[in-house]
Amino acid sequence: MGTRGFGVDVGGSGIKGAAVDLETGELIGDRLKIETPHPATPEAIAATVAEIVRLAEWKDPVGITLPSVVTSGIARTAANIDRSWIGTDARRLFSTALGGRTVTVLNDADAAGLAEDRYGAGKGVDGVVILLTFGTGIGSAILHRGSLLPNTEFGHMEVDGMEAEHRAASSVKDTRGLSYKEWAEEVSRVLTRFEDLLWPDLFIAGGGISRKHEKWIPRLTNRTPVVPAALLNTAGIVGAAWAAESGIAP
Ligand code: BGC
Repeated sequence: MGTRGFGVDVGGSGIKGAAVDLETGELIGDRLKIETPHPATPEAIAATVAEIVRLAEWKDPVGITLPSVVTSGIARTAANIDRSWIGTDARRLFSTALGGRTVTVLNDADAAGLAEDRYGAGKGVDGVVILLTFGTGIGSAILHRGSLLPNTEFGHMEVDGMEAEHRAASSVKDTRGLSYKEWAEEVSRVLTRFEDLLWPDLFIAGGGISRKHEKWIPRLTNRTPVVPAALLNTAGIVGAAWAAESGIAP
């Protein structure tokens, strides 16, 4: 395994990539970011990913995240991205766009979970860790002693008659104009349901809103401890780079 890798995190508003020191989980050099093209079709995203890798002058394998279920390199869902991704062989598409090199494609929250577990808020935790990303939707990753159970989609679990992410994604806070207190009540309801079914030892809260964790994490009423993510906006990149180098891929 090399000590350096390269990860690209494909999000709804930006596509970000960087080389990563796999000993420390820190980025090497600048994080490159290009706005996500619209419509965010597979071809348009692949061209943008290739541009980032070209700008970074990276020649080796690359790990790439998608906000979708990804099995054997194929995107299976498209909850918050262009529907044309469903059924796309993302591994082949990205590999072709990158001159035929080896690529690893995985779910965005799974990548963030791998990174937090190895280098961040989950490091050294001996138990079941669930990372949740609160953004446009809710992404999930479940880890146990460094192993990932890939493609969990807890954001779509029904909680009191509504999908969890329609109740407690951070986008819901904005669209419904909720205060942190009101939104924390929805998050608590979702976490309580998850913990009743999965009994984790720790929740890690990721996504942009975890930067303001002091406004809402202390208000949560569920029983399992919740800590903010440590890597924040680099977790997807770092996890993707680690997945590519270590051979961990769904
Ligand atoms: C998708 C997940 C993704 C999450 C965060 C959800 O809507 O179904 O696959 O991880 O959003 O982007």
